[in-house]
Amino acid sequence: MDYQMAVSFLLLVFSLLLSLQLQATAEDVFVGVNIGTDLSVMPHPTQVVALLKAQQIRHVRLYDADGGMLMALANTGIQVMVTVPNEQLLGIGQSNSTAANWVNHNVIAHYPATNITSISVGSEVLTTLPNAAKILVNALKYIHSALVASNLDHQIKVSTPLSSSIILDSFPPSQAFFNASLDSVIVPLLGFLQSTNSFLMLNVYPYYDYMQSDGFILLDYALLKPLPSNKEAVDSNTLLRYTNVFDAMVDAAYFAMASLNFTNIPIIVSETGWPSKGGSNEPDATLENANTYNSNLIRHVLNKTGTPKHPGIAVSTYIYELYNEDLKPGPISEKNWGLFDANGKPIYILHLTGSGLVLANDTANPTYCAAKEGADPKMLQAALDWACGPGRVDCSALLQGQPCYEPDNVMAHATYAFNTYYHQMGKASGSCDFNGVAAVTTTNPSHGSCSFSESVGRNGTMANITAPSMNSTNADSSATAFGYNILSCAVMMVGALLWSSIWL
Ligand SMILES: *[C@@H]1O[C@H](CO)[C@@H](O)[C@H](O)[C@H]1NC(C)=O
Ligand SMILES: *[C@@H]1O[C@H](CO)[C@@H](O)[C@H](O)[C@H]1NC(C)=O
Ligand SMILES: *[C@@H]1O[C@H](CO)[C@@H](O)[C@H](O)[C@H]1NC(C)=O
Ligand SMILES: *[C@@H]1O[C@H](CO)[C@@H](O)[C@H](O)[C@H]1NC(C)=O
Ligand SMILES: *[C@@H]1O[C@H](CO)[C@@H](O)[C@H](O)[C@H]1NC(C)=O
Ligand SMILES: *[C@@H]1O[C@H](CO)[C@@H](O)[C@H](O)[C@H]1NC(C)=O
Ligand SMILES: *[C@@H]1O[C@H](CO)[C@@H](O)[C@H](O)[C@H]1NC(C)=O
Ligand SMILES: *[C@@H]1O[C@H](CO)[C@@H](O)[C@H](O)[C@H]1NC(C)=O
Ligand SMILES: *[C@@H]1O[C@H](CO)[C@@H](O)[C@H](O)[C@H]1NC(C)=O
Repeated sequence: MDYQMAVSFLLLVFSLLLSLQLQATAEDVFVGVNIGTDLSVMPHPTQVVALLKAQQIRHVRLYDADGGMLMALANTGIQVMVTVPNEQLLGIGQSNSTAANWVNHNVIAHYPATNITSISVGSEVLTTLPNAAKILVNALKYIHSALVASNLDHQIKVSTPLSSSIILDSFPPSQAFFNASLDSVIVPLLGFLQSTNSFLMLNVYPYYDYMQSDGFILLDYALLKPLPSNKEAVDSNTLLRYTNVFDAMVDAAYFAMASLNFTNIPIIVSETGWPSKGGSNEPDATLENANTYNSNLIRHVLNKTGTPKHPGIAVSTYIYELYNEDLKPGPISEKNWGLFDANGKPIYILHLTGSGLVLANDTANPTYCAAKEGADPKMLQAALDWACGPGRVDCSALLQGQPCYEPDNVMAHATYAFNTYYHQMGKASGSCDFNGVAAVTTTNPSHGSCSFSESVGRNGTMANITAPSMNSTNADSSATAFGYNILSCAVMMVGALLWSSIWL
C-alpha cells in the first residue's frame, strides 16, 4: 500500500514533468497555481509543499498568509504570492500601522527564507466587497509603504486581483472599458500600479464567459483549441484576430487601461481554469474540457505568444487551482476546479506530452533508451526486473515465443524494457538511467519482428499507467536499487513515502 502510493506519486512527477521542461525554457514567464484551502481534509503544509516540489510547481498564490504554509515553503525556491484576506482589508485600508503590522507578521517574519514576491491585497474586492472599494487603494499604499520601510518594495510587488467582469464591452477588445462607476477607484489604482512598477492582476474565466454567452462563444474558442480561420474573432477596429477567449479578455484589459491613458502596466492572470465536473446544468464542466483548457493554456502561456495586441509580451498565469475544494458552496462545478484531490492524486493528467514544444525536437530526432555496452549484467538484470515489475513495463514480448525473446540475453531484454519505460515516461529527463546502466541513443534498437515503438506514451497515455500491485518490501528494495534517478529524486522519494505513510 505504501508502495502503491509511492509509485502513483512518482507517476504524477513524470506526468507533469513536461511542464517543468517548458518552464525551464521560458525564463521570465511562468504558470503557477492558486492554493485554495476549503477542503474537509486540508493536506498538511508539508504535504502541500511535497506535492508542489514533485510537480515542479515554482509559483503559488495563497489566499492568506498562513504561517504554517509560509514556513513549509521556506528554502524551497518556490515563489509565493500572499494575500490579504478580504476580511482584513477594512482594518488595513484604514490604518497604516495595522498594515505595517500585517506586513511585519506575515511577510518580513518569513522573508527571505520564504521567497514572497508579491502581495495581493484582497480578492475581487470591487465586485465582492463593494463597501471596501473606497479604502482599497489606501490599503495597497499602506502595505507598500511598509515594504518601503523594510526596503523590500523592489522585491515584493503589491496589487489586487480584479474580476474581469468589471471590464465592460469586452468584445471587440479595442472597445473595452472599465465600468465607469468604478473609475474613482480604478484610476488611482492604475496610478499606484504604474508608479510602483507593479502589475494588474486579472481573474480570467473563459468558462463563465462561455456559459453566459448563450452559444455566442464557441466551446473550442473558450478552450484555446485551434480554430479554422473563418471562426476566429476579428476586432473590426484593429483587425486583430482572436483565436481564444483568454487572449481577448487580456487584451480587453489592456485596452480598458489604455482608455484611461495607462499603457505600460503589465498584466498577470491571477486566476484561470476550468472545472472538471459539474451538475446536470453544467454539461461543459468535464474532465476532458478541464484538461484541454489547462493543457492548452499552459502551452500558450509558456510559449510566450503574448496576445494579439502585445505579441511576445508574456502573461504569467496562476491556474485555479491546486486542489478540488469539496467544501466550496454553490454548484457542483465550484468544488471541482482542482488539478489534484486532497491525497495529491491528479484529477486528470494534463495533455502536455507531444505538445510540439519541448518534444518537437524528439519528433525530428527519435531517441531510444538502451542498455549500455559493458554494463554489469547483474545490475542490468536488477534494472530489468524493476522495469518489468514496479516500472510497469509490459514485458510480455520478452517471453519465449514472443517477438523480442531473441536474442535471449539480458542486454537485449533490458534494452527493450528500458526503452519502453523511457517512452512511457514521455522521455522525461532521468527516465533513461537505471542507475547508470542505460543511456539515450538515436539508434533504433528494433530487430527482426521485435519493433521498438517510438510513440508509446507520448500523448498523455501515461494517464493509463496504474500503480503496480507490489508490496512495500519490494518497494523498499527497488527504491534502494535504483534510487529513481529522476530529477533530484531523493527528496521526492522521501516525500512520496512520507506522503503515502501519512495517507495510509
Ligand atoms: C502612518 O501615518 C502617519 C500620518 O500620516 C505617519 O506619521 C506615520 O509615520 C505612519 N506610520 C507608519 C507605520 O507608516
Ligand atoms: C526570489 O525569486 C526571485 C526570482 O527567481 C529571485 O530573483 C530572488 O533572488 C529570490 N529571492 C530570494 C530571497 O530567494
Ligand atoms: C458597474 O458597477 C456598478 C457598481 O459596482 C454596478 O452596480 C453595475 O451593475 C455595474 N455595471 C455593469 C454593467 O456591470
Ligand atoms: C488621455 O489622454 C488624452 C490625450 O492626452 C486626453 O485627451 C484624454 O482626455 C485622456 N483621457 C483620460 C481619461 O485621462
Ligand atoms: C508558439 O509560438 C509560435 C510563434 O511565436 C506560434 O507560431 C505557435 O503557434 C505558438 N504555439 C502555441 C501552442 O501557442
Ligand atoms: C532538443 O532539446 C534538448 C533539450 O530541450 C536540447 O538540449 C537539444 O539541443 C535539442 N536538440 C535539437 C536538435 O534541437
Ligand atoms: C495518442 O493516444 C491515442 C489513444 O490513447 C492513440 O490512439 C494514439 O495513437 C496516440 N497518438 C500518438 C501519436 O501517440
Ligand atoms: C487504457 O487505455 C486503453 C487503450 O487506450 C483503454 O482501453 C483502457 O480503458 C485504459 N484504461 C484506463 C484505466 O484508463
Ligand atoms: C510481499 O512480498 C513478499 C516478498 O517478496 C512476498 O513473499 C509476499 O507474498 C508479498 N505479499 C503480497 C501481499 O504480495
